[in-house]
Amino acid sequence: MRRRGTAINLTNKAVSRRTMLAGAAAFTFASWLEGCRASVPPHHAPAMDIGGSNSLRYHAAAQQLLFGCAVNAKALREDAAYAHLIRQQCSILVPENCLKWKAVEPEQGRFRFEDADAVVAFAEKNKIKMRGHTLVWHEALPDWVERGLTPTDARAWMTAHIQNVAGRYSGRMHSWDVVNEAIAPRDGRPDGLRDSVWLRTLGPEYIEIALRAARAADPAALLTYNDWGLDDEAAESEERRRAVLTLMRRLRQRNVPIDAVGIQGHLYVPNQRGYGAGLRRFLAALRELDLQVFVTEMDVDDSRALTDEAARDAAVAQEIGAFLDTALPDPAVRAVLTWGLTTHYTWLKERYKNPATRGLPFDDTLQPTGGFAAIRDAFDRRKILAAKPQQVAPLTPIRKWR
Ligand code: G3I
Repeated sequence: MRRRGTAINLTNKAVSRRTMLAGAAAFTFASWLEGCRASVPPHHAPAMDIGGSNSLRYHAAAQQLLFGCAVNAKALREDAAYAHLIRQQCSILVPENCLKWKAVEPEQGRFRFEDADAVVAFAEKNKIKMRGHTLVWHEALPDWVERGLTPTDARAWMTAHIQNVAGRYSGRMHSWDVVNEAIAPRDGRPDGLRDSVWLRTLGPEYIEIALRAARAADPAALLTYNDWGLDDEAAESEERRRAVLTLMRRLRQRNVPIDAVGIQGHLYVPNQRGYGAGLRRFLAALRELDLQVFVTEMDVDDSRALTDEAARDAAVAQEIGAFLDTALPDPAVRAVLTWGLTTHYTWLKERYKNPATRGLPFDDTLQPTGGFAAIRDAFDRRKILAAKPQQVAPLTPIRKWR
């Protein structure tokens, strides 16, 4: 089932030797380069060289970025080729599901850390950074939380959950998605907050409670607010960006610990809205608030109107390129993660009933897709585009630059 001959240009010519040397000088790659050269099981051997200086993590590092993906804990245990690809391509990982409340504390006070422990151990062994996802969300809650939530319990349960989960990995996480998807302007509140179980029991203060608890549990992790629908030029996206900014300004005024915003980046094709001034202004405003930005969950829903593999690759590549070319020139952006690395393991297939999706950097047979080339080439263009005058000029420097 090996894929051959797509219309996408997978060559590497956009990367100058100088760019590569600059990257190599800034980072110590010797140990992981060695790992990248280890042989790949033959049935997965890629048709082109994607290891070492051709990997996404290398191209990212040359531009002061991390590249990584959401990882499927079971697959990491059982699929050696998948584990190899992650080691080869990623400098940061986030567990897709095993740190969600339902997975990690299915019964009150009884924690199941086996999967997350294994992912963290894998990351540490391979010198890959880790993100945690996610401490407070209105989804993936166990029945006992949904059933019994009262204002008193909500505060105590949330705080205990954060202490236990973030506390377990204290000092070992690059960042945590502390609060996930708290914005929903459609719910009609003036502040744009989602009418969630947490808001109903604790009011808007729940966000502050969560962030303070996370800082206490893991003082070193970059505390992140993570949300979707913040990327394109649609009016709804602009409304969502405005609501996130309102929230961030309120948190800053109240001295609540917060370090970063996660732009999920769940893209889709075809999308006529494009990416531009709205996203640029948003990034500049976050930077002015001294917040870092991570693209946390990028993938492309290509379920609509596309049947041919080459056309899907071209559309996915075009969309990723347009999004990243708008976002990456801003120095607030420090990391890009895709929501899955290969379409062999992706929520896109089930969610959009789209078994043929090409919406991630690697396909079902772990061959690079159009998305791989698009991400690599967008990384390579970062500094060039940042130097162009149409980009928003830097406002204030980021103080914490990890
Ligand atoms: O845990 C059960 C397992 O016991 C059972 O065998 C299996 C059978 O289908 O279902 C398992 O639960 C599923 C879980 O994924 C693990 O596979 C849930 O039904 C399913 O709803 C869950 O979906 C995840 C979804 O979040 C909800 O938590 C997706 O994999 C995951 O990709 C998705 O990720 C979210 C981010 O966390 C937040 N941003 C949006 C993103 C995409 O929706």
